[in-house]
Amino acid sequence: IPIPQPPPSLLFGNVGDLDPTNISASMWHLAEVYGEIFKLKLGGRTLVVCSSYETVNDCCDWSRFGKQVSGSLKEVRALTGDGLFTAHTEEHNWGVAHRILMPVFGPMGIRKMWGGMMDIISQMLLRWDRFGPDNVLDTSAEFTDLTFDAIGLCAFGYRFNNFYSDAPHWFCTHMTDVLRECGVRGTLLAVQNKLRFLTAAKTDAEIKAMRDLCNEIIQERIRHPQPDSKDLLNPMLEGKDPETGEKMTHKSVINNMVTFLVAGHETTSGTLSFLFYHLLKNPEKYMAVQEEVDRVLGDKPLEPKHLSELIYVKFAIYEALRFMGPITMNSKGPKQKTRIAGKYEVESDWQILLNLKPFMRDPKVWGDDGDQFKPERFLNGGFERLPPNAWKPFGDGMRSCIGRGFAEQEMVMTVALMVQNFQVEMADPSYDLSLQVALTIKPDQFKIKVRRRSGRD
Ligand code: HEM
Repeated sequence: IPIPQPPPSLLFGNVGDLDPTNISASMWHLAEVYGEIFKLKLGGRTLVVCSSYETVNDCCDWSRFGKQVSGSLKEVRALTGDGLFTAHTEEHNWGVAHRILMPVFGPMGIRKMWGGMMDIISQMLLRWDRFGPDNVLDTSAEFTDLTFDAIGLCAFGYRFNNFYSDAPHWFCTHMTDVLRECGVRGTLLAVQNKLRFLTAAKTDAEIKAMRDLCNEIIQERIRHPQPDSKDLLNPMLEGKDPETGEKMTHKSVINNMVTFLVAGHETTSGTLSFLFYHLLKNPEKYMAVQEEVDRVLGDKPLEPKHLSELIYVKFAIYEALRFMGPITMNSKGPKQKTRIAGKYEVESDWQILLNLKPFMRDPKVWGDDGDQFKPERFLNGGFERLPPNAWKPFGDGMRSCIGRGFAEQEMVMTVALMVQNFQVEMADPSYDLSLQVALTIKPDQFKIKVRRRSGRD
């Protein structure tokens, strides 16, 4: 079956079909027009966009498709090199870092980071408390401060101290600038990118400053070893690959430090912001979260044993990720010429994009209420009964998210402590979702107020 394509222009192919300020929205729109699969020509590249369960599920077959690092992700390599997120699977350093770091991100490793997460979440809540119930909070900015500080402290024992300052740490601002620029560059033609030489010079300087700070953190750890530290820096510097016996190189450690900061903060903060948007737009779901938190915690301090009991909280997060997660597309490459879902022929040098929002609302899997926020759909075995590969906000197979456990623990802790202690309200109840777009998406201008619940002080 031929793959539909919007009519291309003679010179620019389908460049005109994409809004460079919000590629994801263009992809969602094109999926509505062209259906489960469509093709775009951009410069010399052919892109195939899959938006249904059937097509995406087929692309999760690793014997025929691998992760492809191209477009914006390839641009991010200027910052993160062959760090885990942006490495090609066959790159040697990906294997070494993956094998050394997988156990550190396992359940035991993450549990050791409880104290660090608690430290940062408490800073945020204390600050909210001090500013009082009339203070208007920019949700995405607060959660970005939280997740950045948490990854800095838990991963490298470094305090960015965003909650002790009015402006975000320069490292965060640099990173946002660089990622936005990578997002733009990834959608432009090579000749258009050549014209951005002034921005390129600024981006290069920002990248150097960030990598220099990571190097300083490493040097400090070498000068003052902390054998009892529970962060990731010791295993990154000392750990040996069980397969080759090698340690990570100095450059690979820096690539992965920056990678964790990139991959670990906007994703988690975006998810928390989307979640609170949905909970506040659907007050009965907010109440369901609050009832569970009150039943499990009451006014007792949160402890690791409570995590497995906060089931509705977990599924509310899963539902926010299904509805519209911070990462909107996954990139795959066919290993040879093949047919997607047995019908759509693709060449080996084409890029396949998995269009996550329409895919995770496909009525064939989610029924006709896929456009509604309903954490209940996952309760009572609903999550386990999903067909394979139906819920995919954390990526696929061996290249899926190494930080998933870290993110889930941090998010459940944050929601539980927020709802236990505060009544959260929308600052402007008429607010409707608009998006901030960089490499990931998150709510824009979504403001909340928090009022301490009586008896919870
Ligand atoms: C990979 C999503 C949090 C570190 C990925 C991928 C997705 C994803 C979709 C695969 C990307 C691809 O195939 O190109 C998320 C979401 C998060 C989250 C939705 C939060 C809600 C985190 C955190 C960390 C992290 C907290 C670090 C502490 C990574 C790394 C990779 C990755 C290193 C690359 C893994 C590899 O290919 O070996 N993530 N992530 N992520 N994530 Fe996350």
